[in-house]
Amino acid sequence: MFNHTMEKRSLSGRVARLLAVAVLALGAAGAHAGIANTKHNLGANNAANENYMTTGTTEICVFCHTPHASNTNVKAPLWNKPVAAGSSYTTYTTAVSATIDGSVDMSGISLACLSCHDGTQAMDTMINKPGSGGYAAGGSVISGGVWTGTRQDGSGKMINAADFISMLGTDLTNDHPVGIQYCGGGVSTGGASTTAASSGSCRDGDFNAPQDGLIGGHRAWWVDTSVGTAGTRQKTDMILYARAPTLTGDATSGQHQPFVECASCHDPHSENATFLRIPNTQSAVCLACHNK
Ligand code: HEC
Ligand code: HEC
Ligand code: HEC
Ligand code: HEC
Repeated sequence: MFNHTMEKRSLSGRVARLLAVAVLALGAAGAHAGIANTKHNLGANNAANENYMTTGTTEICVFCHTPHASNTNVKAPLWNKPVAAGSSYTTYTTAVSATIDGSVDMSGISLACLSCHDGTQAMDTMINKPGSGGYAAGGSVISGGVWTGTRQDGSGKMINAADFISMLGTDLTNDHPVGIQYCGGGVSTGGASTTAASSGSCRDGDFNAPQDGLIGGHRAWWVDTSVGTAGTRQKTDMILYARAPTLTGDATSGQHQPFVECASCHDPHSENATFLRIPNTQSAVCLACHNK
């Protein structure tokens, strides 16, 4: 009896371990599904995306990245699309709100998002199309590719549905500010440390202090969220984008200032709803930055 029970125990232990392995494997498979099962898979292999699809390719990354000959005029990694000049956009400014403090500089990664989301060019406009050859410095569309779905204009340019605003256009005055300094006008005192991550001080106490650190020799800024490890930059933090100029008289003089861009709130590869870096439960996204 004793032995039998032991056997049963160790058997159920084994079953439990096997189950644990199976669950882990399932978890891993879920994580691997990644961008393929999201709206950012525009290729012919995404059956789930009935709104947009081109028969031009089954690749996924190529709509945004290329391993070679990428667009170095935009601050997005290995970007495979031409982008419009920052001056093409009307931004959220004092014309819209009397309480806005930060200055706007539309030269950052938001231009990469807008290369599809402003609706001005076909979404398969690429610098380096799939396969051998297919390079066009100014970008060209996949020849023979046919676009289907109701939220594109027939040539692959994004259009809005009556109940869905994915095409933001070039007038961004009705969108959360992007290309804008963090902290209601930047970091003013304390600020950037020279080595490890530390808290910068906000010029405006309405914002939560950002973290910063030297990563790969470059000044990196972010706002910690409750997800993941505090004090470490992770994709579940609100990522801020460092750039010149620094504020005059700033204690961080010589250091680049943090800016908010589309990719501060969104991770284009995320499986969270609306590609948010963290779920917006109880407005967690908004409250990560705004001290309200
Ligand atoms: C819809 C556009 C889009 C697609 C499609 C896309 N990416 Fe990205 N990717 C971006 C943008 C924008 C960034 C920069 C994000 C940031 O600043 O955090 C980026 C960043 C990255 C990075 C560096 C930062 C990070 O998040 O790890 C890697 C690596 C990467 N992408 C790989 C891929 C691969 C591999 C694929 C295809 C399976 C892919 N991406 C598909 C837009 C895209
Ligand atoms: C290659 C074109 C392309 C690029 C570049 C691109 N997107 Fe998208 N994005 C799409 C398409 C297509 C959709 C689906 C829209 C729809 O269903 O109406 C989409 C949808 C979204 C959505 C809504 C998702 C939802 O579930 O409703 C968000 C948010 C988004 N994109 C953010 C971004 C951000 C942020 C960037 C830059 C980091 C970016 N996108 C770059 C093509 C693109
Ligand atoms: C400050 C944070 C923040 C910034 C910056 C931001 N977004 Fe969003 N975005 C959100 C949130 C939150 C949602 C979800 C809204 C909802 O649930 O309706 C969203 C939704 C969207 C959607 C889906 C449409 C909708 O409202 O359902 C698209 C497309 C999108 N964003 C694209 C962009 C692009 C492109 C940029 C840059 C030009 C950008 N976002 C900048 C927070 C942000
Ligand atoms: C990554 C940090 C960040 C996140 C996340 C964020 N914001 Fe902001 N928000 C800013 C910055 C920076 C400004 C510009 C403030 C300034 O310069 O005065 C701003 C401006 C605003 C404004 C305009 C303020 C004015 O004076 O006109 C509103 C309203 C706002 N945000 C609401 C939201 C909401 C709602 C969310 C969540 C959906 C959100 N924000 C998420 C950083 C963020």
